[in-house]
Amino acid sequence: MQIAECGVRIGSMADTQRFDVLVIGAGPGGYVGAIRAAQLGLRVACVEKMPTLGGTCLNIGCIPSKALLDSSEWFAQAHSKFAHHGIVCDGLRLDLPAMMNRKDTVVQGLTHGIVGLFKKNGVISLQGHARLLDPQTVEITADDGTSQTVQSGAIVIATGSEPISLPSLPFDGDRVISSTEALSLPEVPQRLVVIGGGAIGLELGSVWLRLGAKVTVIELLPRLIPGTDTQIASALQRALTKQGFTFILGARVTQGAVQDKQVTLTVENDKGQRSELTADRVLVAVGRKPYTAGLGAAEVGVVFDERGRIVVDKHYQTSVPGVYAIGDVIPGPMLAHKAEEEGVALAERLAGRAGHVNYDVIPGVVYTWPEVATVGLSEEAAKSTGIDYRVGTFSFLANGRARCMDEAEGMVKVIAETKSDRVLGIHIIGPRASDLIAEAVLAMEFGAAAEDIARTMHAHPTLPEALREAALNVDRRSRQS
Ligand code: NAI
Repeated sequence: MQIAECGVRIGSMADTQRFDVLVIGAGPGGYVGAIRAAQLGLRVACVEKMPTLGGTCLNIGCIPSKALLDSSEWFAQAHSKFAHHGIVCDGLRLDLPAMMNRKDTVVQGLTHGIVGLFKKNGVISLQGHARLLDPQTVEITADDGTSQTVQSGAIVIATGSEPISLPSLPFDGDRVISSTEALSLPEVPQRLVVIGGGAIGLELGSVWLRLGAKVTVIELLPRLIPGTDTQIASALQRALTKQGFTFILGARVTQGAVQDKQVTLTVENDKGQRSELTADRVLVAVGRKPYTAGLGAAEVGVVFDERGRIVVDKHYQTSVPGVYAIGDVIPGPMLAHKAEEEGVALAERLAGRAGHVNYDVIPGVVYTWPEVATVGLSEEAAKSTGIDYRVGTFSFLANGRARCMDEAEGMVKVIAETKSDRVLGIHIIGPRASDLIAEAVLAMEFGAAAEDIARTMHAHPTLPEALREAALNVDRRSRQS
C-alpha cells in the first residue's frame, strides 16, 4: 500500500469497499473533483442520491435554465427583432411541451455524459444517500432501502445547496414554487410574481416574461443583483423594465395565501406601506442554503458556522481530519465554476500536488438579455478599500459587431489602479457578456494592466473590441473618449 504526500492511503484495487477518496455528491464540485482525483491515480468513488449525476447544476439549475433561456430568447427575438432584420414570421406560436422536451434532452445528454466520464476515468459511481458513521466510514442507503458501508481515507462533502423558503410563504410545489418547479411549469402563467431580484429570479423571470407572462419582481433591497457594480445593475434594471418587468424594490412579502389556484400576497415597502398583489404562481428566489440534511456530519464532529456552512481550513479540511468539504456547503459564492475549481484543487492536494483556487477572479454571470458578467472589484468595493483607481467605459452602441447584431444595448467598464494600471475589476452588460468575461478573467489571472488589454490586438468587427476600447478609455484613449 502506497501513501500519498498528503496522507491519503492508496488502497488495493481488489478491495471494493475501501477507497482513497469518497466524494459525497455528484454536482460540479463533486464529479469534477472525483474525476481529477482518479486521473491522479487515486481509487475514487462518488456517491449520489439522485438517480442521475450532475447535481443541481445539470439537473435543476444552470443547464435547464440556460436551455430555457436560449429557447425563450429565440421566441422573443422572433417577435421583436426578426421583422427588423427583414424576416417575416407569420403565425408564430409557442409549443411549450416541445420547448420543455428540448430542455430535458439537453439535460439528459449532459448527465449521461458524466456516466461516461466516470467510466473512462475509473470513478466508481454509487447510488444512494450517504451518512457519515465515523471520519472514515460512510453508510449508503439506496432508494430501495438496501444499504452498504464503505470506507475511505478521505471523505469529501460536496452536497451542494437547496432553495431558502420564506416562513410567511412556504413552498407548496405548485403555486408557491422554487427554481426547480419554475423550470417545468405546465403552462405560461398569466401573472408571475418573483420574490428576490438575484440571478435566479431575473433569469427565470426572463424565461416566463419572454413566453408571455406578466412578471413582477419584489426585492428586499433598493436595487437588483446585490454586490454587483451599481452602474451595471441599474443598467440591467432599465433594460429589463423596457422588456416589461415590473420591479417593486425595497419591499418584502409579509403574508401570503393560496386559494383557487391564485396566490394573494401582502407586500410591505420600506416606509411600512402595505399593498396586495395576486398571482397565478409565485417563484421564491431569495437565496440558497447549504444542503447537509441526514449527512451525519455534525455527529462525527464537523463544525458548521452560524449560516449552516461547513467550516474548512485553506485546504478544504473540516474540523475532522480526513473529512473535507467543497462547493456550496462552504463559504463563498454558490457557483458551479467555484465548486469545480475547489474540487480540482482538493483532488490535487489529496494526490500530494499543489492545488490552488484564485478567489479574487471568480466570474459572475446573470444570463438575462442583455447578459451581465463581472469579475473582480465593483466600483463601490474599489472605493471602500481606499484604492486610487481609474475607470474606462465603452458603450456597445459604438461597437460595429453589436450594431450588426442589432444588440447595441450595454457597456463594458474597466476599473484599474491609478498608480500601477493593474486591472481591479471588469463589468459587462451586453450581448454575450457571459462569453466576453473569459478574456477579462484571463487578463486578471495574469495580473494584466489596462494597457495590456488595450495593446492586445482584437479581431474586427467583434464584440470583444468593446473590452479593448474600455481598457483604452481608462487612459482616455478610446474612440469614444
Ligand atoms: P441571490 O442571493 O443571488 O439573490 C436573492 C435576492 O433575494 C437578493 O437580491 C436578496 O436581497 C433578495 N431577498 C432576500 N430575501 C428577500 C425577501 N424576503 N423578499 C424579497 N427579496 C429578498 O439568490 P438566488 O437568485 O436565489 O440564487 C441562489 C444562488 O445561486 C446564488 O448564490 C446565485 O449566485 C446562484 N446562482 C447563480 C446563477 C448564475 O451564476 N447565473 C444562476 C442561478 C443561481
